Amino acid sequence: MRIQPANRRLGILLSGRGSNFEAIADRIASGKLNAEIAVVISNVESAPGFERARARGLTTVYIPSQRRPREEFDREVVEQLRKHNVSLVVLAGFMRLLSRVFIEAFPYGILNIHPALLPAFPGMDVQRQALEYGAKFSGCTVHFVDDTLDGGPIILQAVVPVRDDDTTETLSARILKEEHRVYSEAIDLVLSGHCEIEGRRVVVK
Ligand code: GRF
Repeated sequence: MRIQPANRRLGILLSGRGSNFEAIADRIASGKLNAEIAVVISNVESAPGFERARARGLTTVYIPSQRRPREEFDREVVEQLRKHNVSLVVLAGFMRLLSRVFIEAFPYGILNIHPALLPAFPGMDVQRQALEYGAKFSGCTVHFVDDTLDGGPIILQAVVPVRDDDTTETLSARILKEEHRVYSEAIDLVLSGHCEIEGRRVVVK
């Protein structure tokens, strides 16, 4: 099945620091990534990334998630994404699990970045897990989001070495540098319309 987004309008979802969002926004501003950030949505009004989105003059929408059913929140997010004519949803440190309501609204239209080489180390705090496990390489993975935890088809990965003197912080920083590069590359690839899904595999035609 060929993945062909209808346009190049991105919807960014974030809950925190927002460095991946900034890397993508910078790449677009410099003309290296042909895309447009249609809307930045956050469930954390004071998230640093959300403040930076406002400072850049982007369209921002705050949608509170606390004390409300997941599907109700997701419906509101989907409504906003549709309102802003988004064809590719980019999770950039969005600390929420998505319900089927959301996933089914954007089939192969939601990307996530994970700071480990999936399928190794899904979940949270994975840089520390890779270090403590004794892995000699780690990295990051951009994948389509489906209804499994960090389990959707992989679009791109980048590998970094784990050094003997690494701490969680130094390893995280090395991985993050690759995240900032690889996320824009994956977005570009998906928007190009050259990706095909063959089983679990994303192949470039
Ligand atoms: C990144 O490590 C990303 O891989 C993970 O959440 C973190 C978000 O960082 N999904 P930032 O908010 O983009 O700086």
